[in-house]
Amino acid sequence: MATHGGLALKEWDSDEVEADAVNDFKSEMLALLDRHRPSRMPFFRRLAALPFAIVSDPEFLGEVHLVYQAAMHATRAAVYYLPHLDNPALRKRKLQIFIDDDGLAGGDTHHYQLSRAFRNIGANILLEDEEFGSHEELCQHLDAETAHFVRLAQKLYSRSLGPWCAVEVMSVDWMKALAEAFAVHFPAFEHEPYFEDCFSQHVEERHADESLTVTAMVLQQRPELLAETLRDAKMMAEALDGVWNNLDRVVQNARRRRARRL
Ligand SMILES: [Fe+2]
Repeated sequence: MATHGGLALKEWDSDEVEADAVNDFKSEMLALLDRHRPSRMPFFRRLAALPFAIVSDPEFLGEVHLVYQAAMHATRAAVYYLPHLDNPALRKRKLQIFIDDDGLAGGDTHHYQLSRAFRNIGANILLEDEEFGSHEELCQHLDAETAHFVRLAQKLYSRSLGPWCAVEVMSVDWMKALAEAFAVHFPAFEHEPYFEDCFSQHVEERHADESLTVTAMVLQQRPELLAETLRDAKMMAEALDGVWNNLDRVVQNARRRRARRL
């Protein structure tokens, strides 16, 4: 049997390389989810614990909307540039991902749904929907950590499939954590279509499965892409931690502002 080192490389069997790449990829992605599970971050529990007077402040809600929508926008825009999915069968699968975000009934999109959900709890929206455009312009409105995530999404999504997998594997976890934390204060929030459509139709679980399946197919054909795929997934997951860290700072700053006014 072939091994990874020394003279035995001569016996290297290409089927084995492909199987190794796919197995390594799947186990690494699950380990990544364990290490970076968004709901473990303090932001979500501190948001749930905020006094209503703070969490209902339109300026605070506007800040949370801007950061979260910016991060989501970055991934939704970047997914149009995913590499390696160019044959007709893979383009069809890619199209379904676009439709799930941007092709909702009645011309709706996840972006519009999310902004409506925040308007309905009283947010003072700082950046109107159509102002979410180029990554660079958007970064001028953002803190350093969220801007880093936004720039990285643009760069990495077009380079390998790893960052897309990392985001899709983690998205149901953070969407549930966000809905539950806000629902402590605004019970209708988790029933907004942005959340309820996703949860009831298991959209994010489907995206997680689809991203892993499609990427495994690509790696089976091109096992040499494994290292880059895993490295980029890790960079994206680390940058996503930064977004939750920054949102936690938004929460703590709101607490301090309130304390100074009292
Ligand atoms: Fe998704």
